[in-house]
Amino acid sequence: MKKILLLSVLLAGTSFANEEGQELHEESCTRCHGSEMYTRDNSKIQNHFDLRSQVSACANNLGTGWFPDEEAAVVKFLNDQYYKLEK
Ligand code: HEC
Repeated sequence: MKKILLLSVLLAGTSFANEEGQELHEESCTRCHGSEMYTRDNSKIQNHFDLRSQVSACANNLGTGWFPDEEAAVVKFLNDQYYKLEK
């Protein structure tokens, strides 16, 4: 019984993995700009590298202290949701 419970917790953990990116983003990034920033006509973001650099720059400015995997989760969230860039 315990094993089944543990397994379902693990499975739930994987399928919602990217809620982490969304939550971190909500926590730290929405006070200056909402999604309109990511969908503006003259977006500065041309490729996946630009996106990673910009997220890094904004996160460092804020002093979020994110670990690389947390930063990556936010990049993934923004890319899945808005930019849809090739890696
Ligand atoms: C202190 C205010 C502020 C906060 C907080 C902030 N940003 Fe920004 N962000 C900006 C400004 C201003 C720009 C536009 C910069 C420009 O046009 O040169 C921007 C632009 C961006 C862009 C590029 C948008 C585009 O398509 O051109 C991304 C991506 C971005 N921010 C991500 C983030 C993330 C991720 C966070 C959370 C770590 C964050 N920002 C938090 C001020 C902020």
